[in-house]
Amino acid sequence: IKAGHGVKGLSETELGDLPQQYIQPQSERPSCMKIMDESSIPIIDVSNWDDPMVVKSVCDAAHKWGFFQIINHGIPLEVLENVKLATLAFFSLPPEEKRNYFKHTSPSNHVRLSTSFIPEAENALEWKDYLSLFYVSDVEALTLWPAVCRDQLLDYMRMSQVVIKPLTEVLMKGLNINEINEKEWSAMTGSKRINLNYYPKCPKPELTVGVGRHSDVSTFTLLLQDDIGGLYVRAPDGENWIHVPPIPGALVVNIGDALQIMSNGKYKSIEHRVIANKINDRISIPLFVNPKPSEVIGPLEEVLKESGEKPKYKTVLYSDYTLHFYRKNHDGKGTLEFA
Ligand code: SIN
Ligand code: FE2
Repeated sequence: IKAGHGVKGLSETELGDLPQQYIQPQSERPSCMKIMDESSIPIIDVSNWDDPMVVKSVCDAAHKWGFFQIINHGIPLEVLENVKLATLAFFSLPPEEKRNYFKHTSPSNHVRLSTSFIPEAENALEWKDYLSLFYVSDVEALTLWPAVCRDQLLDYMRMSQVVIKPLTEVLMKGLNINEINEKEWSAMTGSKRINLNYYPKCPKPELTVGVGRHSDVSTFTLLLQDDIGGLYVRAPDGENWIHVPPIPGALVVNIGDALQIMSNGKYKSIEHRVIANKINDRISIPLFVNPKPSEVIGPLEEVLKESGEKPKYKTVLYSDYTLHFYRKNHDGKGTLEFA
């Protein structure tokens, strides 16, 4: 096995067996999941964000499910298709070129090609490779991001504002916050990261995972997935799992820990996981909308005042919060203990 080619390299050697490091403990394997086939996360038509019914559907979904899909969101299909093509183009680069983006060779820690999640911190590895891009500015991205995908990704990031802005406003409306000041925008949406996830087909999907159980540390995440499927989210009962079916042109939205904290628990960041696939490669592209790393986040004052509730979470420097997430294997909602 050639080292450093990621899971894609392993998958291409056509081994009939799964390397030992990828074998997950019994409790994390797909056979232990109780899957609810009859249920589905909400699908919301957001062609008019001002419609009170849309506001209600989005806020209810953020409260009850923490996950929903949006359709008619205004990002052109072509922009989304180009992001998927660009992702495939990046992972099809020869290993010699991809190697330039590994931790020790990458020109910047804002661009990082990795495998699994945090291999140094994991007992069992995840069947996935990913390129993680921290967005600072277009100028920086144009010099640092891989040429095969940067223009398509920057187009997408620019267009994604047509969702990020109204979605943030609607979610705040649901907390009775009708004016968002500069500081709050920065606290909620001041930094962005985009990941290109590649899940090669897997010889023994029943023994491993694509991504283990976790909640995102973001404010919210916009997820673009291809037509293969494999993402499961925890049902509101806290026990069962529900598949998130690919819908052409749709985006999956999920609430992250930062917004659960800021909303004092009104909006929920929900556990999710990805099952590996025996037949097909799969790609997904999450765009994480995050607080600025230098922000101190905690339950919003307006929320506490309005509800009369006590804060359920401590305030925490966002960069400290994310450090906790990146120091351990995926462990469900474990990071929230640090808030
Ligand atoms: C993730 O949540 O880490 C990945 C989601 C996906 O690939 O669908
Ligand atoms: Fe996630």
